[in-house]
Amino acid sequence: MRTRLLPRVAFYDQHPEPADFFGEVIDGLRHRPRRIAPKFFYDEEGSRLFDAICETPEYYPTRIEKRLLAEHAQDIARLMGRGCLLVEPGSGSSEKVRLLLNALQPSGYLPLDISKDYLIAAATNLSTEYPWLEVHAACVDFTNPLDLPYCPHGTHRVAFFPGSSIGNFDPDDAVEFMRNIARMVGRDGGLLIGVDLKKPTDILERAYNDAQGITAAFNLNLLTRINRELGATFDVRHFAHRAFYDAEHGRIEMHLVSTVPQRVAIGRERFVFEKGESIHTENSYKYAVEEFHALAAKAGFAPMQVWTDAASLFSVHYLQVNTLRQ
Ligand code: AVJ
Repeated sequence: MRTRLLPRVAFYDQHPEPADFFGEVIDGLRHRPRRIAPKFFYDEEGSRLFDAICETPEYYPTRIEKRLLAEHAQDIARLMGRGCLLVEPGSGSSEKVRLLLNALQPSGYLPLDISKDYLIAAATNLSTEYPWLEVHAACVDFTNPLDLPYCPHGTHRVAFFPGSSIGNFDPDDAVEFMRNIARMVGRDGGLLIGVDLKKPTDILERAYNDAQGITAAFNLNLLTRINRELGATFDVRHFAHRAFYDAEHGRIEMHLVSTVPQRVAIGRERFVFEKGESIHTENSYKYAVEEFHALAAKAGFAPMQVWTDAASLFSVHYLQVNTLRQ
């Protein structure tokens, strides 16, 4: 019968509080230095541009991480344990998890995402492609501590957090986030996480200043989005993309720099920009393997294995909840 072929996806809605885009933009632009959080990059156009960044020759993380996951899928599966319950915070299109599923044979997959329609579509597609897989999708804000909506007794839990998304957190917040993950997966739980490595500045800076200008378009799209959604008057031609490596903090910083003195209105609010004044839009922290191990230890995780490429550009870590510290 036809219904037997339909994908089965259990769906849970925890009704996450939507971000207050207007309030956060106004507060961020009043703050000194001015700032807007990178989570606001990802409207439809921003998500499309991010996918295009991943295709540029300069932006190595996505390519290398996918290669590491595919090459080491069997080792990863052995460490994570076949039959585990696999949880993915911020699952998006659930693209990278496909590299693990056949080797891992998890007893269930729980994608967690704040974007409800996208989550349902992605989970349904995945379920169609992997009919043997039990899929339980939950609409949540994964930056808050959470209880899993589906958690069969006695199943060992592991989290998957690829893409070096951890790099967007300041180190203290990264520890806090990983502590929440440790609590979520519990005793004997694990975390498979992609982390971008420290490396020569020229390689890093090229990855965030691609020759086709896609990263610049991605950064500037934030202003276009603010104009459209908040009725602002940014003249996008008078802002420039700037990305550089700050060795002291170990991070790439992205900024939008005003190239002329100008005024911008957002609703009733007015902002005056001097020439050269910037809006800080993103940090992307880079960690040496030992630095990341130290961070993970603060969150209660013990390092089990790390995979890197031959040129040491990117790392994938498997960490286990350190019961001695819990
Ligand atoms: C999605 C946060 C991992 O920091 O490299 C890519 C975002 N920004 N190019 C990163 C990004 C500009 C990306 N993360």
